[in-house]
Amino acid sequence: MEIPASSARTLFVTTALPYANGPFHIGHIMEYIQADIWVRFQRMQGHTVHFVCADDTHGAPIMLKAEAEGVTPQALVERITATRPKHLAGFYLSFDHWHSTDSPENVELSQDIYRRLKSAGLIYAKPIEQFHDPVKAMFLPDRYIKGTCPVCGAKDQYGDACEVCGSVYAPTDLIDPYSTLSGAKPVLKTSDHFFFRLSDPACIEFLRAWTQDGRLQSEVANKAREWLGEQDATKGLADWDISRDAPYFGIPIPDAPGKFFYVWLDAPVGYLASLKAHLRNRGIDFAQFLQDPNVDQYHFIGKDIVYFHTLFWPAMLKFAGVPYKVPDNIFVHGFITFSGEKMSKPRGTGISPDVYLDLGLNPEWLRYYLAAKLNGKVEDLDFNPDDFIARVNSDLVGKYVNIASRAANFITKNFAGKLGTPAESENDRANRLTIAQMEAEAARANYAAREYGKVLRDAMRIADRINEAFDAAQPWLLAKDPARRDALQTICSQSLQGFQLLTVLLAPVLPATASRVARDFFGLGREFVWSDAWKEPTAVAPYTHLLARVEAKQIDALLEGPKATSAALLQSGVTSAASPQSSAASRTESQVSIEDFAKIDLRIARIVNAEAVNGADKLLKLTLDVGEGRHRTVFAGIKSAYRPEDLVGRLTPVVANLAPRKMKFGLSEGMVLAASGDGPGIFLLAPDDGAQPGMRVK
Ligand code: MSP
Ligand code: ZN
Repeated sequence: MEIPASSARTLFVTTALPYANGPFHIGHIMEYIQADIWVRFQRMQGHTVHFVCADDTHGAPIMLKAEAEGVTPQALVERITATRPKHLAGFYLSFDHWHSTDSPENVELSQDIYRRLKSAGLIYAKPIEQFHDPVKAMFLPDRYIKGTCPVCGAKDQYGDACEVCGSVYAPTDLIDPYSTLSGAKPVLKTSDHFFFRLSDPACIEFLRAWTQDGRLQSEVANKAREWLGEQDATKGLADWDISRDAPYFGIPIPDAPGKFFYVWLDAPVGYLASLKAHLRNRGIDFAQFLQDPNVDQYHFIGKDIVYFHTLFWPAMLKFAGVPYKVPDNIFVHGFITFSGEKMSKPRGTGISPDVYLDLGLNPEWLRYYLAAKLNGKVEDLDFNPDDFIARVNSDLVGKYVNIASRAANFITKNFAGKLGTPAESENDRANRLTIAQMEAEAARANYAAREYGKVLRDAMRIADRINEAFDAAQPWLLAKDPARRDALQTICSQSLQGFQLLTVLLAPVLPATASRVARDFFGLGREFVWSDAWKEPTAVAPYTHLLARVEAKQIDALLEGPKATSAALLQSGVTSAASPQSSAASRTESQVSIEDFAKIDLRIARIVNAEAVNGADKLLKLTLDVGEGRHRTVFAGIKSAYRPEDLVGRLTPVVANLAPRKMKFGLSEGMVLAASGDGPGIFLLAPDDGAQPGMRVK
């Protein structure tokens, strides 16, 4: 997919709407950075971009979470929405509008699209038998049903698959099923559901054409072909259940009391709701906008939601008809992993965008690092701390920023900031600028195809070339010889043209730096446009600091929070004495002073209650009395070694000043201590008789 620079277009661009049940994680930020770079690039080409997103608010999980917290779903959503601006501004994400699926626009548009699909004969109702929780008086989504695996007999397995033996089954196959919401035994109950007739031949025919005409990434098109079934037009695609019964936090289905749209029906409509609100703010007519043949519609999404975006969403829009517009393309990315592992929130591995910003780390480092690893394929991307430091320091700062500081110093000192290439022939100069233009053209094609890694690799090659030419000219020697002033001004000005070229190429990735370079360093008084890549700057201000190096200790701090608390708590569940085999070496390697040790506030605690944690097979939830006049909750990974009832009443030391850690199951306010070795077994420590809760251990 490529847009010729000559013909300006209008682009409607979105990222997937994040669920409004939690703050952004690094996967969200990665997606937004990918899209933001593309959007900024398109704007630099002269295209008009409307870049919007929204919170995805509806569905059972948000409803139930709000209920558990004793607040309305709207209040829960509002609290999460309030956390958005910090991250959007913090990572320089240039969304034009941020909306909500719980909005009047979304109600109106979702109901309108539904009515049109219904008139097109693509909606029908049919009775469905499902598990119902008699205590909560609601139908249970699969994830809220557990029971004994019908294949291997493992207890407490989810309604769709067994984590122990890997079997896949229906919730109704579970032995002794129970509702995880109430513990009650669910009963089968029948209710009418509405379906979108995706199996309709017209639908299949449309989707075959739309998914297979070469627009989609090849991996995505192949998946779609599999789903659609290759030969038989009636095979492959099941009709889509789009309704849920009350109680449900969602949009009411017209003329169907007690029925709501399934969240995945109104979620993508949220793209349009956000666009509509945004266009209204700009005084642009929504229906006219969508029908304009000059408008392209693109959605950036992750690989887990391809089905919804390449089948359901285009079909909904196609058969809703005018003024709705079928997406021009869906851009799919892989997942970000951390040092080769899945980023999993409960275990706390990975990096937190919140901590990143709080530590004051430069958002452009992350944008640069992710861009260097992003391409147009559906590939996972690994965040590796050492790689991060190397790319930022040796490439971004060492190669790129270096050019500006070195060349500008000579120009400031010897030429009062004036640039010029008197020692270069007109012909050489024209050639140099032509090459710059060709390099910008290559970058343009790579950006358009989301091959950011290629753009940055090429940019670093250009930087190497500039630095080599600069070194070869030995400007520090030229500066000592008044007869060679022209040569000095020429090599420094050539380098600075190269620096301007690089800054234009990097501007979509480094918007703040590019802005400072354009406005302050080259004194343009405006932002760069793409054609500045092959223009000569005429003057330069004295060099001032542009971008700092990242220090290893900053990355350590970024990783520390999650590592120190959750990894210790959840993997072994406890701090354990080193095993005798390995202790000799590690003891001498990692000595601490008595002052360091004294920082740890060890106290005696009484375990006043212990219980299993639903959904965690290693954890016990401990309620501790640490002599403070209140109780603390601590989650400890000792379930394999202790029955909860055997722990109640026992005394044990606890790290009382460990930073509290918010876990999936609640807040953990400390850590209990136990020994473990290479073999099985976890052994909780205990004080001698006479110790009391609250006593300090020193
Ligand atoms: N609410 C739905 C999307 C509705 S779109 C009409 C949803 N929300 S989500 O919060 O779970 O995910 C939002 C986006 O983040 C998705 O595109 C998803 O693929 C992406 N990511 C979630 N985890 C990710 C990584 N670890 N890495 C990269 N992107 C990831 O799905
Ligand atoms: Zn099993």
